[in-house]
This record gives sequence, C-alpha cells and structure tokens, in this order.
Amino acid sequence: MKRTLSGIQPSGKFHIGNYFGMMQTMIQQVTTADLYVFIVNYHALTSVHDKDRLQKGTLEAAADFLALGLDPEGCTFWVQSDVPEVCELTWLLSVLTPMGLLERCHSYKDKIAKNIPASHGLFSYPVLMAADILLYQAEVVPVGKDQKQHLEVARDIAIKFNNTFGETFVLPEPAIDESTATVPGLDGQKMSKSYGNTIPIFIDEKPLRKLVMSIQTDATPVEAPKDPDNCTLYALLKLFAPAEKMKEVHALYKNGGAAYGYLKQDLFELINDYFSGARARKKELMDNQDYLRQILARGAEKAREQAAGTIDLVRKRAGIAY
Ligand code: ADP
Ligand code: TRP
Repeated sequence: MKRTLSGIQPSGKFHIGNYFGMMQTMIQQVTTADLYVFIVNYHALTSVHDKDRLQKGTLEAAADFLALGLDPEGCTFWVQSDVPEVCELTWLLSVLTPMGLLERCHSYKDKIAKNIPASHGLFSYPVLMAADILLYQAEVVPVGKDQKQHLEVARDIAIKFNNTFGETFVLPEPAIDESTATVPGLDGQKMSKSYGNTIPIFIDEKPLRKLVMSIQTDATPVEAPKDPDNCTLYALLKLFAPAEKMKEVHALYKNGGAAYGYLKQDLFELINDYFSGARARKKELMDNQDYLRQILARGAEKAREQAAGTIDLVRKRAGIAY
C-alpha cells in the first residue's frame, strides 16, 4: 500500500472543486492506501487572521470530511498544528530552498494579485507544504492541478536535502486525475474559495438552486448546436450525472435542443441528492464537537509517532543532534 497524503486549508467553505479535486479521491482510498489526511491550519493562517473563524473552520473541516464518508479508523486524520515538528522541519528545509524556486511559484503571484498581503509566510508557504509531505515520507499526493507546481517544489527540496545530507526523504509524486483536475466555477474560471464563484458542498437546498441557476451560459438559442467542451454547465453535469444521462445531454448539445434552464434544474437536483446525506451527517457531527476533538486527538497521536522518526533522522543528518 502506498503512503498517500493530502491536506486542505480550513480557510472557507469547501466546494465541489475541492471535493472532486481532492476530498473524494482521498475518501475512496481508505482501504487501498496507507492514507494520511489532514487539515492545514498553519497554512490557513497565511490568509485568515480571525481566531474564531480559524477555530470554527478547523472543526468544521473535520466534520465535513467525516460527513462525506472519511473513515477515521482506516487512515490517519489530524490537524496540522497538532504535530508542531512540521515547523522545525520547515526551517531545516528553508535553509536549503533557493529563493528563485519560491519566486517562480504561480500561486504566490496569484494571491498577491488578489490583494492578499505579501507576508513572509505566504511566500514560504510551499516550504511548509514540502515539510508536510516529507515529514510523513509520503509517496503519493492527490491534489488538483493548481497544486502541481508546489509538488515539484517539494520534490526539488527533497532532492536538495538528500544530496546535501544523504538519502533521507522519499520523493513524492503528485496524483492528478485529469477528469477532475480543474472543476470550473459559476463564471467558468477555476472554482475557488478566493474567486467567489463556488458551489459549496454543504449548502441548503434553496441557496443551492439559486447558485446553480446563476451558472454562466452563452446566448445560443435552444435549437442551435452547442459545443459541450466549452460549457461550464456541461462540465459540472458530467461530474454528477450517470453516463447514460450524459450520452443524451451530449446529443442535445451536438444536434441542438439543449435548454440551459432545464439542464440547470437537472444539475441542481443531482447535486442536492448527491450531498443530502452528508449534509444531515454534518449537522449531527457539529452538535457533537467532543467526538470530533476525540477523533482528531487520536489522529494527531498517530501522525506524531510517524513524524518523530523522520525528525530524529533529519536532526542527525543535518548536525542539529549533537
Ligand atoms: P481554493 O482554491 O478553493 O482555496 P484549496 O487551495 O484549499 O482551494 O484546495 C484544496 C484542494 O482542492 C487542493 O488539492 C486543490 O488542488 C483542490 N482544488 C481546489 N479547487 C479546485 C478546482 N476548482 N478543481 C479541482 N481541484 C481543486
Ligand atoms: N497547498 C494546499 C492547497 O492549498 C494545501 C496543502 C498544504 C497540502 N499542505 C499539503 C496539500 C500537503 C497536499 C499535501 O490546497
């Protein structure tokens, strides 16, 4: 079984891009991988400076994963800051990380362009992410396409460390599922918490319907043929509708007859049904926060055991242990 690890920031409401890009892949691998799933609250601190929001967001993120079906017994599931050794490793990696490697990161440049203040933490975000991955000697890291470059940075840093101090780290590979690599948002751009174009997973029926109805479509008349490959509504339908239904929809696009209003209603119903069970489970979990904390404490214990071995080795290799 491959050691498979991925994390998510508790920085806003999880959306269907997060679900198909990462969460579902992780949840489905409980029995086939040596699975590590965690909530990266240190990373979220690069953009969230409101303690109540971060605290609540962290517990809610845990509830979301469990409600969506993550079996905490079959994996290691914890909150990043409960294993503070990751900060020590971040420092040990950062002294080997060339500035140029970080200066090239698109994600940093995009965030600055969106007016997130350019802190040192935001700049060195990929080093903390590399520490996350290397601390647990992860082999495979399932992520959406936007994280590919961060994975390359993690590999580069691991290679640099191994070359400098001797073989220490496993080199991680990204796992990016092409069919869900970039889920489009309401406006056709990548769905993202920071673009305000998301369909949240845990949203009530009424606001969900309103959002789905607001998906941008073009002004082609119903009878005219349309290009399914350039249509956000089609891309989203493909994530939820069974293959048979998609065959019909594809024919309507190609031959004419696809009415966006009806298709949006179909999409709304599909999404609503898909997540209705998870929505109910999340409510129960949020009413039982002691249980959530218990699960996370047990996960942190398991993660910390694993981290201890790596950090001991790293200290020896770098000459910190004397
Ligand atoms: P956001 O951009 O909404 O802040 P995050 O950066 O927290 O999302 O991403 C968490 C995980 O979800 C990452 O693995 C990321 O690649 C994946 N992800 C985020 N948005 C999408 C999307 N639109 N399509 C596919 N995967 C996505
Ligand atoms: N940077 C990732 C994101 O924004 C979150 C993350 C932090 C992560 N540490 C990780 C993902 C380690 C995979 C592995 O989505």
